[in-house]
Amino acid sequence: MRPEIVTKMEVNLDSLLYNYQEIKRHVGKAEVVPVLKNGAYGHGAVPLAKSLQEAGCNHMAVAMVDEGIQLRRAGITAELLVLGVVLPQQLATMVEYELTPSLGDVASMRAWAQLARQAGRQLPCHLAMDVGLGRLGFLPEQAEEALQALRELPELKLRGIRSHLSHPAGGKELNDREFARFQQFSEPFLPEYPEIVRHLAASKAVLLHPHMYLDLVRVGGILYGFDYEYYPETLKLKPLLTYTTKVGHVKTLQPGWGVGYGLNYVVQKPIRVALLPIGWSDGLCNQHIGKAQMLVRGQFATVIGACTDFAMLDVTHIPEVSVDDEVVIIGSQGENSQTVGEFASAGQLTASQLLGRTSLRVARVYTKGGIVQDELSILS
Ligand SMILES: Cc1ncc(COP(=O)(O)O)c(C=O)c1O
Repeated sequence: MRPEIVTKMEVNLDSLLYNYQEIKRHVGKAEVVPVLKNGAYGHGAVPLAKSLQEAGCNHMAVAMVDEGIQLRRAGITAELLVLGVVLPQQLATMVEYELTPSLGDVASMRAWAQLARQAGRQLPCHLAMDVGLGRLGFLPEQAEEALQALRELPELKLRGIRSHLSHPAGGKELNDREFARFQQFSEPFLPEYPEIVRHLAASKAVLLHPHMYLDLVRVGGILYGFDYEYYPETLKLKPLLTYTTKVGHVKTLQPGWGVGYGLNYVVQKPIRVALLPIGWSDGLCNQHIGKAQMLVRGQFATVIGACTDFAMLDVTHIPEVSVDDEVVIIGSQGENSQTVGEFASAGQLTASQLLGRTSLRVARVYTKGGIVQDELSILS
């Protein structure tokens, strides 16, 4: 018998492709590279990558080597750029799976070139530089050192130079400074490597800094239709997912009774509580308690307790709530709706943090044209 799915995130692949095309239109000449790290921010990397590849996307990015391997094993042939840090012992696997590294120091350039020599061919790479985030990459003053190393390592096929802004919404002065650092670092490479792509814009820079699109933009959040307060009028994107579960148990509690571990919540007057089969592994966190809301019978109800496998909703004001009622965590019900950003921020999380911590206990169900295409869960 097919097990009943009680808790699920439904991911709309039509909205994914709509957003991808919209972002492409918006950024004009710049190439759009979907960022599919951390399971495509919890949406599920493989189904999304397959859908994007079918739509003609031939360049994607992940953070970790294993994420690249996962996509290759699933039949993704697009160029796969690994954005994260890679240890020397992982490089050989990257050759095997044709993954492109972001090299951030001369030692890794040499190690990659050594593997290219063994393979008897040039190997592609991007150089990562650090404009002020303190993460992977050459510092601005190391441009000459990186350029000199490239000249000495003809086995390296330089595809691009990239960086990442520290605070794209942090004002003009900071962003001008970081952009100038990037330009100054990358310009000396252009006479000898005119084909390279230069890139530093992610979602927020796509929304806020059109002059930073350069040759390529790497997008996660906007591709997934997350809420940002600064979407331009001309870029209307769609959220991809709805997150729903069901009421599993309803009871009345009397004053003095506790709800949740540590007696964090003590009942003051008689209340109706609906118990849900979701908890820490399903995106909830301590900060959600007392703040986050969910929709049941079209009305908002507050989360008053949560633990590993349960969430408790105060449904006193909705007396008709009963077992098997649908609960909407992200999406709409009746007249009301809640975005991923609203639910995440109630728990002091970003949308990507929220979805990234939602395990596959929450089945991901993929739809196209309203028809279920695929499912991903602990049972698949
Ligand atoms: C290097 C790099 N590029 C692009 C992205 C995509 O960012 P966003 O989701 O803001 O588009 C990330 C995500 O953190 C990143 O680390």
